[in-house]
Amino acid sequence: MDLENKKEKAQELPMGSSHMPDQKVQEVLKETQKILEVLSREELSPEEKAWVYKSTMDGYQNHVNPGIMEYRKSVSTDYTSIEWSDYGNAFTDINGRKYIDLLGGFGIYNVGHRHPKVIKAVLDQLKRQALHSQELLEPFRAMLAKIVGDLTPGDLQYSFFGNSGAEAVEGAMKLAILHTGRKSFIAAVGGFHGKTMGALSATAKARFRQPFLPILPDCYHTPFGDAEAVEDVLKSADMVGNDIAAVILEPIQGEGGINVPPDDYLPRVRDLCDRYGALLILDEVQTGMGRTGRMFACEHWNVIPDILCLGKSFGGGVMPIGAFISNKTIWEHLFQEPWLHSTTFGGNPLACVAAIAGIHVLLEEKLPERAERMGNYIIQKLKSLRRRFSKLCVDVRGKGLMIGMEFPSDEIGYEVAKGLFDDGVLVAGTLFNAKTLRIEPPLTITQQEVDKALGVIEKIFKEVNTKHFPDRVPVRR
Ligand SMILES: Cc1ncc(COP(=O)(O)O)c(C=O)c1O
Repeated sequence: MDLENKKEKAQELPMGSSHMPDQKVQEVLKETQKILEVLSREELSPEEKAWVYKSTMDGYQNHVNPGIMEYRKSVSTDYTSIEWSDYGNAFTDINGRKYIDLLGGFGIYNVGHRHPKVIKAVLDQLKRQALHSQELLEPFRAMLAKIVGDLTPGDLQYSFFGNSGAEAVEGAMKLAILHTGRKSFIAAVGGFHGKTMGALSATAKARFRQPFLPILPDCYHTPFGDAEAVEDVLKSADMVGNDIAAVILEPIQGEGGINVPPDDYLPRVRDLCDRYGALLILDEVQTGMGRTGRMFACEHWNVIPDILCLGKSFGGGVMPIGAFISNKTIWEHLFQEPWLHSTTFGGNPLACVAAIAGIHVLLEEKLPERAERMGNYIIQKLKSLRRRFSKLCVDVRGKGLMIGMEFPSDEIGYEVAKGLFDDGVLVAGTLFNAKTLRIEPPLTITQQEVDKALGVIEKIFKEVNTKHFPDRVPVRR
């Protein structure tokens, strides 16, 4: 039903009527029936593909956000690519075109797309119960919390499960306020923690924050990697009585451009937090679950946070689930009033069994170790490409399978991403810019897939380099 038609129909309704007109009911029934049929098909006919295509375009244009269509045009070669299916380390669009996934859903698919063990766990649970009653005790929530306690470093023991990374950060910030009785935070320039109001205070991009200021007014941003700057703020906040509840950091910044801090940064911040009575919240929504070559990135520096945030691939690449985890002393604030923080879908059985299966796969297939090995291989190959195309690619950095390639401008970054997409390899910029393209494939990616993708990267580098730096003949080393 088009918009004009919809307005006219609305006017036909008698005042105060809450019933949909019959014609509208029939239209929605017809439409939902068609969707259910298409959904059940193994193969779509050309007519069905055309219908999905048109419905998607119309839906984005009129009911989601037409701005996204413009954005898509700049990241993919043409915006007719509609995602349809995925498996292993690749996804396939509605026209059957297969793409090697070097983006990994910004870090969702650590165990690959639709890992059979995760799918089986979810289907097994689905046959028994989908969502929880809200009143009875939920077994898989309890079991997952125990496993997370075993898996995480130090004395982290209690978990709260929500539905996203931002929610995990919100909960962590609230818990820090509860525990310390303080209201201010220190975050890092280039940090990303989500877009809900609390998490957005810690997120560092002006474009996302400015329309909503003052959000949480006392959230200070210090340069990432600079422990002295953290100390300066802790000291002055202490002197003016505006004490800091927590320092919140990503161990390696994702959206800010894959920034790895100096080795002494996190240990020094840990020490400063202890000295000034602030908590350390580590946001491992993107770096967690094996991504950087350790189960949690903080293990690279032997730093144990007071509160740890998880999300993205925590759900085994199949279900959305986030978590914040802390120790008993801090969690005790919630013992008396457990409903001080709650959410309807948090800790639902489908999400919890997906997370349990995901953890099982990570350990059984030794995926953190694999991430380290594959990551070293890719970084070394990309660095050698960077030496050959030194004007085009100005930096390669990362840890494990969290890798960034930096270009001189957003435009060149986009061009490389477009070229790769055209040749069947998906990468993307970060939420902050397209200057840095990230490589965050499933940790299950095979040697063959990596070599194929690296071959495509080399080809696109050559093409974009010839266009922008024709005087610069790459040297083969
Ligand atoms: C480090 C980090 N924290 C939090 C978030 C927010 O997670 P979500 O998008 O699930 O709310 C993200 C998302 O990219 C992230 O990378």
